[in-house]
Amino acid sequence: MITFERVTKRYPDGTVAVDDLDLEVPAGKIMVLVGPSGCGKTTSLRMINRLVEPTSGRIVLDGRDVADADPAELRRGIGYVIQQTGLFPHRTVEDNIATVPLLNGWDKRRARSRARELMELVGLAPELARRYPYQLSGGQQQRVGVARALAADPPVLLMDEPFSAVDPIVRASLQDELIRLQAELRKTVVLVTHDVEEAIKVGDLVAVYRPGGHLAQVDSPERLLANPLDSYVQDFIGFDRGIRRLSFFTAAGLELDPDVLMPMDASAAEGVATAKRLGQPWLLVVDTDGRPFGWSAVGDLEALPETALLASAAMAPVGHTFRPETDSLRAALDATVLSRTERAVGVDANGRAIGVTTYERLRDAIRAAEEAADEADGAVGAGMPAGPPHEEPR
Ligand SMILES: Nc1ncnc2c1ncn2[C@@H]1O[C@H](COP(=O)(O)OP(=O)(O)O)[C@@H](O)[C@H]1O
Ligand SMILES: [Mg+2]
Repeated sequence: MITFERVTKRYPDGTVAVDDLDLEVPAGKIMVLVGPSGCGKTTSLRMINRLVEPTSGRIVLDGRDVADADPAELRRGIGYVIQQTGLFPHRTVEDNIATVPLLNGWDKRRARSRARELMELVGLAPELARRYPYQLSGGQQQRVGVARALAADPPVLLMDEPFSAVDPIVRASLQDELIRLQAELRKTVVLVTHDVEEAIKVGDLVAVYRPGGHLAQVDSPERLLANPLDSYVQDFIGFDRGIRRLSFFTAAGLELDPDVLMPMDASAAEGVATAKRLGQPWLLVVDTDGRPFGWSAVGDLEALPETALLASAAMAPVGHTFRPETDSLRAALDATVLSRTERAVGVDANGRAIGVTTYERLRDAIRAAEEAADEADGAVGAGMPAGPPHEEPR
């Protein structure tokens, strides 16, 4: 959908911001450009909508060299979101959002009703329509910026550090919102960020830039975490990529132990007998609907009268649960690490306990998932040694 062909940008002062860039952005995907400050990300982005003209090479959008397009017309088909939102301070929220439809000749009424639709789409309450940007929080302003960029329903969306100015919690929710929106809208998105976590979270593909406007690696987030091409990419991604990679492995293949589940109306004696038979120090007590109720230690049960019900035993809190069908191995590991019992409970869509995992079971599932991924990747399948990543002089 968008192709950079040997694109170079040299600014008049001689700075080479982008150097011989080849890059393909597939239609309907989110391509994230990530790298340290000054490596040419913004310049790359702004050449797509011709806010910057390349010195050489060309950019093809939908089969057409953007240099042949009328810039104003080109930009109407490309939504553009920037860090400080660039909202018009003297216009209300709805009029900011309606800017492009109005430029496109819509009447005010229709443009405003479109603005209301978009506010709903990006999660803005309708009563904010008449406010001015300064009356909104940073996160709300950023949502207005996104709504405005989407107003004319452009097939392409360019976003330059769209979430960098807001605090981490708001940023996470804006990222989630973008992922949700994209599942619905399927725009071709190019998003610039310096935050590698953000790149890995929202990108279908991630282009890692090196200083000097060169690409170090373009890959899916999974592959980037699994196979950084050289030490630059490895350092840039950071030290905990092993854990982060687990986000891409489903917990569906994790073997759960259902035998330690005990109904709360079972007796202490039954509990002790079950725990001993299984050789397990903890039982998971479930309520009458089968939902996890608490962890019961075999030592505590032994101190109870034999006929006492499990419901009356001292219990450790269930802690975080996970859903094997929809959650990742990272979520399962996280739940296990946080649990006082070093065990975590897998639940179904109705919150009923399916079974329990332990570190041993997690370790086996992680190993199996990594092997399957490496094999699918061809690295192991092709008979290459699974050694350290190839090093390249910097
Ligand atoms: N208008 C300009 N004139 C001269 N140099 C510029 C201009 N805009 C950006 N640069 C330089 O080009 C390089 C890349 O900038 P930019 O594309 O903004 O990087 P990034 O978005 O990755 O931080 C930097 O060295 C920057 O200083
Ligand atoms: Mg920039």
